[in-house]
Amino acid sequence: MDIKLPKGTKDIFLAEAEAYEQVESALINVAKLFSYAAIRTPIFEHTELFTRSVGDSSDIVRKEMYTFTDKGDRSLSLRPEMTAGVIRSIVENKLDVTADLPIKLYYVGPAFRYERPQLGRYRQFHQFGVENIGISSPYSVAETISLGVTAFTVMGFKQVTVKLNSLGDASTRDAYRTALKSFYEPHLPNLCPDCRQRFQINPLRMLDCKVPADQTLAKKAPHITAFLSKESQSYYAQVKTALKELNVAYTEDPQLVRGLDYYADCVFEFHMLSDKGLNYGALGAGGQYNNLVKELGGQPLKSVGFAFGLERLMAVLADSGRLDNVKPFTDIYIISMMPETDLYALKLSHNFRHSNFKTELNLEHKSMKASIKSALKKDAIYAVIIGDQEMKVNQVTIKNLQTQEQQLVPVNEVVHLMQHLTNQPGHHHHDEEAPDHGHKE
Ligand code: HAM
Repeated sequence: MDIKLPKGTKDIFLAEAEAYEQVESALINVAKLFSYAAIRTPIFEHTELFTRSVGDSSDIVRKEMYTFTDKGDRSLSLRPEMTAGVIRSIVENKLDVTADLPIKLYYVGPAFRYERPQLGRYRQFHQFGVENIGISSPYSVAETISLGVTAFTVMGFKQVTVKLNSLGDASTRDAYRTALKSFYEPHLPNLCPDCRQRFQINPLRMLDCKVPADQTLAKKAPHITAFLSKESQSYYAQVKTALKELNVAYTEDPQLVRGLDYYADCVFEFHMLSDKGLNYGALGAGGQYNNLVKELGGQPLKSVGFAFGLERLMAVLADSGRLDNVKPFTDIYIISMMPETDLYALKLSHNFRHSNFKTELNLEHKSMKASIKSALKKDAIYAVIIGDQEMKVNQVTIKNLQTQEQQLVPVNEVVHLMQHLTNQPGHHHHDEEAPDHGHKE
């Protein structure tokens, strides 16, 4: 077959798919620790939602959206991020009026951007994100950032850096845009065509230009921090105080402006080199958005949130060998040796599964050697072998595939024994005898 994956996408299967699920569930657990609830919104929305929120001066909306017209002549776009859809949903369902504030939601799912594929950059990627809607305290911003750092800790990383900046309020950004314009004006003829457009629509975007000559110039541009209003300054200072209190290591980056138009006040990114020294770009990013809910027709609610890029997180985890032991398959592998033992093997697999064991059942009647080989390929720890001899005496063989030890066990005790061998908490009898393990109950 010569039909291949679309450029910039990837298949995720077997061990890697299992690793995604484990990482996602670890991230979801952290979100729940911070008292967030789940939300799922459509992967396509009306295009206008994104032009009004992510913003028509952003590269995402100008160049990277998968936009199409459906059979009813509507302009729809695959979501390039989730914040816009979450806020649309909150306003549409009137949660901004009826729900207790703040509304704290997390999500996991695919997002789509037509970008040039490179290290850590895909056209379909996955985000895990949180949105904390209807906050006012700067400490809530710090709390949300620390959720992100906690997620890294849970995944086993300590050296994550948080890059931090403040974009101030609307008047701050107006003053800063004017300053940027006078800085860039004399250089206009030498800038890339994109930057000449950005100069007109939103000069802030010029700081993010990827053209090397423009980057060099951007380094000399004035900093937004010099334009912060009194209120924004003191709000930002309090965010930093709270971060210190929470032991969050951050570095201030006065050039961090972020590529989405809805941000105000604090913005941040999570960065880390992988153990192989690779830089996959920001592993996650976010900030405050104080006008978005109102802009989309709801209450004026200050908010903060961020999203992680799962492909980048997984790449960093893989580089450090943390995914090496992820096993997609089974714990117990039942081998039925002949047609006469099949029905019993089927029944036993049923009992194991109802006792919470991951169980594979092989009814192919291959040689013992071939069956054990299959069991190992399926990551099994124990093989349970049911053959002629065993059946005659109402026993089965349990074989530990790591130590090669095996024993004959009466059929009515096999599930119970397996619970004992694997220390499964369901094994009440032994837990009672061993008070040390009592906390597992
Ligand atoms: P963002 O910075 O555009 O922010 O994306 C967040 C994260 O998604 C990035 O840090 C990166 O890890 C990942 N990401 C973005 N584009 C790609 C790509 N093409 N391939 C792989 N990974 C990618 C947002 O999307 C905001 N909605 C975050 C937010 C939530 N702000 C407030 N609340």
